[in-house]
Amino acid sequence: MARVAVVTGGSRGIGEAISKGLKAAGYKVAATYHGNDEAAQKFKAETGIEVFKWDVGKYEDCKAGIATVEAALGPVDVLVNNAGITRDVMLHKMTPEQWHAVIQTNLDSLFFMTRCVIEGMRNRGFGRVITIGSINGQKGQMGQTNYSAAKSATIGFTKALAQEGASKGITANVIAPGYIATDMVRAVPENVLQKIVGQIPVGRLGESDEIARAVVFLASDQAGFITGSTLTINGGQYMT
Ligand code: CAA
Repeated sequence: MARVAVVTGGSRGIGEAISKGLKAAGYKVAATYHGNDEAAQKFKAETGIEVFKWDVGKYEDCKAGIATVEAALGPVDVLVNNAGITRDVMLHKMTPEQWHAVIQTNLDSLFFMTRCVIEGMRNRGFGRVITIGSINGQKGQMGQTNYSAAKSATIGFTKALAQEGASKGITANVIAPGYIATDMVRAVPENVLQKIVGQIPVGRLGESDEIARAVVFLASDQAGFITGSTLTINGGQYMT
């Protein structure tokens, strides 16, 4: 029986590559999205991957959404917490709305989404929770106190969850990408982006597929001894 994987923010950017990678590896994939209907429908038409629309920053939406996914595809074996937003601005100019938007989508969602699938994983004795962190949760980044705080928290969340899940066949890991060629990174002012690329020893932005391949590996049976870890994939920009 094919395993079921849910990828949040799974129709665009890094999430799109993860959804496609998991499908190619034989999973039944559900890609969630929040805003962009047109992109989601295009993605569905091109890939045949089911898309589901809800706000991962709202618990009731996650509960209803996961129930819909499980009715359509079956119990969730693999959760990829990928959905994330930025509201980049220096702290001295940041509004409470900019703070809360990022914490809600990037951090509250980890609890909401994982809470909705973890009991089933424990009962069935297998699960994979893979969370997309960030280089900027490891090193900090000016303009991103909100984002860095949320991404840093993915690591503590994952280490605690890894301990809770270990005896139940559940692993929890973080992948911390560096600057990957997605719309999110292209939104960085061009002069700043050039400076950033100059700081990457490999000399280029990363590709979404380079993250997706690691997700597919961590989701597999072969990765059962890897838990509580953070896999850094950033072209050498920051070495932990
Ligand atoms: N690396 C190097 N220098 C940077 C930088 C970065 N990441 N971010 C800003 N700077 C520099 C600017 O080049 C500028 O330098 P100069 O004064 O020498 O020109 C200085 O910091 C101030 O920047 P701004 O003039 O742009 O100041 P601002 O107040 O208008 O904006 C900012 C500040 C919000 C930090 C803006 O520069 C910005 O958005 N920077 C990019 C922040 C960033 O890296 N975000 C990551 C987005 S991608 C992502 O989040 C995915 C992921 O996980 C990696």
